[in-house]
Amino acid sequence: MIGIFDSGSGGLSVLAALHARAPELDVVYFGDLAHVPYGSRAQADVRLLTIAGFKILRDAGADHLVSACNTVSTAVIRPYMRGDGIIEMVGAAVSAVQKFSTPHVAVAATPATIESGMYQKEFQRANIRATMIACPNLAAAIEYEDVAATRTAVDAAVAAMHAAGADVLLLACTHYARVREMFACSTIDPADAVAQQIIASWGSVGNGTKKFIASKDSPIFATRVQKLFGPREIILK
Ligand code: DGL
Repeated sequence: MIGIFDSGSGGLSVLAALHARAPELDVVYFGDLAHVPYGSRAQADVRLLTIAGFKILRDAGADHLVSACNTVSTAVIRPYMRGDGIIEMVGAAVSAVQKFSTPHVAVAATPATIESGMYQKEFQRANIRATMIACPNLAAAIEYEDVAATRTAVDAAVAAMHAAGADVLLLACTHYARVREMFACSTIDPADAVAQQIIASWGSVGNGTKKFIASKDSPIFATRVQKLFGPREIILK
C-alpha cells in the first residue's frame, strides 16, 4: 500500500496522475487539513507534522511513502529523511524541467520551500537559471476555494515570471496544479513525473484500493475526492 501525504488537497494532483497510469495500485491518502497551509510554518513545525502524518499513513497500512508536498519535501524529506526510501517532489520536478529544455525557469512555491534553498541548489547543479517566486497566500486560497485571492496570487506569479524573463513556470507546490488553467503562461506540473517515479520504484500491481484520511472535516476536500473517485468515506484522524 502506497501512502501519499500532503497538507491538504494539493497531493490529489499526484494521486490523480498515479491513478491514470496505474489504477490498480492500492493507495492511502492523508491530507492534514487541520494544519494547512504548511508553507508559512517554521521548518521545525513542518517536521513534527510530517512525522505525525507519516505515522497515520503507516498505521493505515502504508509500506511505501510519498511526500506529495513540496514544502514537506524541501523542509523535511531532503534535509532529514534522505535515504529513507520516501519519494518526494524535487527530484521529479527538476527532471521535468530538464526535459522541457529551458535555460531559465521560474519556480512558484510556498515561502517555506523557497527558504529551504533546495530548488535553488538543484537547478544550479543542473545548470538551469532559476528565479524563485514566493506565493505566500496561494495554497490556502486554493484549499479554501477563495477564487478572488487565487486570481490575485496567480496573476502576481505570472507577472513576476514575465518580469524575470523566464520561459516557463514550475508549479512547485502541488496545490497550484489544481488551478493550472488560471496561469496565463507556460507551466510545468511535476505530478506525472512523480507518478512515473512511484511506478518505476514500486510497480503498478494491486487491488485498486483507495483510502482517504484527513485530520479535519472539509466538505471541499470531500468534493474533490468524490470528483476523482466517486463517493468515498473520508476517515478523520
Ligand atoms: N501542497 C503543498 C506544497 O506542495 C503545501 C502547501 C501548503 O500547505 O502551504 O508545497
